[in-house]
Amino acid sequence: MRLSVIGCGYLGAVHAASMAVLGHEVVGVDLDADKVDALNRAQAPFFEPGLSDVLAQGIASGRLTFTTDVTLAHGSRVHFLCVGTPQKRGENAADLAYVNAAVEALLPSLEPGDLVVGKSTVPVGTAGRLAERVREVSPGAHLVWNPEFLREGHAVDDTLHPDRLVYGLPPEDVDRHSEAVLDEVYASLLAEGVPKVATDYATAELVKVAANSFLATKISFINAMAEMCEATGGDVTVLADAIGHDARIGRRFLNAGLGFGGGCLPKDIRAFMARAGELGVDQALSFLREVDSINMRRRVRMVDLAREVCGGSIVGRNIAVLGAAFKPDSDDTRDSPALNVATQMHLQGARVVLTDPQAIENARRMVPDLKFADTAEEAAADADVVVLLTEWEEYRTLDPAAFGELVAHRRILDGRNALDPAAWRAAGWTYRALGRP
Ligand code: UDX
Repeated sequence: MRLSVIGCGYLGAVHAASMAVLGHEVVGVDLDADKVDALNRAQAPFFEPGLSDVLAQGIASGRLTFTTDVTLAHGSRVHFLCVGTPQKRGENAADLAYVNAAVEALLPSLEPGDLVVGKSTVPVGTAGRLAERVREVSPGAHLVWNPEFLREGHAVDDTLHPDRLVYGLPPEDVDRHSEAVLDEVYASLLAEGVPKVATDYATAELVKVAANSFLATKISFINAMAEMCEATGGDVTVLADAIGHDARIGRRFLNAGLGFGGGCLPKDIRAFMARAGELGVDQALSFLREVDSINMRRRVRMVDLAREVCGGSIVGRNIAVLGAAFKPDSDDTRDSPALNVATQMHLQGARVVLTDPQAIENARRMVPDLKFADTAEEAAADADVVVLLTEWEEYRTLDPAAFGELVAHRRILDGRNALDPAAWRAAGWTYRALGRP
């Protein structure tokens, strides 16, 4: 089937390439000419394991092209909306300017029977409003809401092997033409047994933000338990293992540490609260305010811990920070807890040297005042304290004895509970972590 993908950022680039791998003919549209050029050369514009391979596969097959010309979407049967919905500056609500602009740009290309398929994360009610606009200009076309649940670092795999497909279907489409078309797009996934949930617009929009809110709540819950462990001498990692054995709870997403960041969870829970306020049901989501504050408190606690191990002040202290990305296997520094902590320590007078296997360029763009190093060894050269903030595999597997030779003082703060305390202590390090004695 011929498909268009409007917006080739994280979501769109991965979606376009993955749909080509499924056998469709795909045109990806983006305003950024440099990004389009890179994608046409099968170069991923950001770090994402596996993306270059699927881009190369799609482009070599002749079924995948990228363009800045939205009129080339004409002739596609399905048009995926994959543009960003960032947090509005100075507000909690989502900024829908890109989604609105994408729909307006697409409208002249629509033919009767075409499907516009929203994948972006939007405030509940958006699909209904956009569907009205589509009907107004192109009465034979339909809009479906089909949220995406991919994780950075696993984006291609999550797209090709999703846990579920959710369709928010248009109420006027009584013969379910749009469901049949989307089934054709995802035929191979459905054949593999991927569960499908067909529902209304509001439920489909809510599924996405509910899932992200649940994940954020799970992380903040365990971080609240970390606060209790810090007050009592308990060990949050043991606690997480123990409660995680209960299948009703589950161990995944119970890793206590610096908390959640990135381009999705923080802004999505805030936009969800803002939407609840607009709908007059803000109390329903007031717990998310607490989820957000537990999360932000961990960043402050991390700086306090650095101060503690430095004898009461970090002013003039050399601090090696390992990790800038919001999580491993990503170069994304949007709302990164690691970058936030590094910046706080810098602003409070420490001499911070930051390193990351992939995210240095993005970190430098966001916080040009910090000092940067290419490797953990280089960052740690004169360190009074080493602070691990993003648990890349290469930091998890550092050899405490050899690494200890490089530092002025063997002090390490494990912001992600990623290291073995016994091994580091045995090598003469002062080891401190969040939520562990
Ligand atoms: C998230 C959702 O998982 C995904 O389904 C949705 O489509 C987009 O938002 P992503 O932002 O890529 O994906 O990252 P995720 O793996 O969910 O991690 C988010 C943050 O939570 C990271 O900063 C991570 O370090 C943190 N985290 C995760 C924890 O602190 N503890 C955990 O146990 C798990």
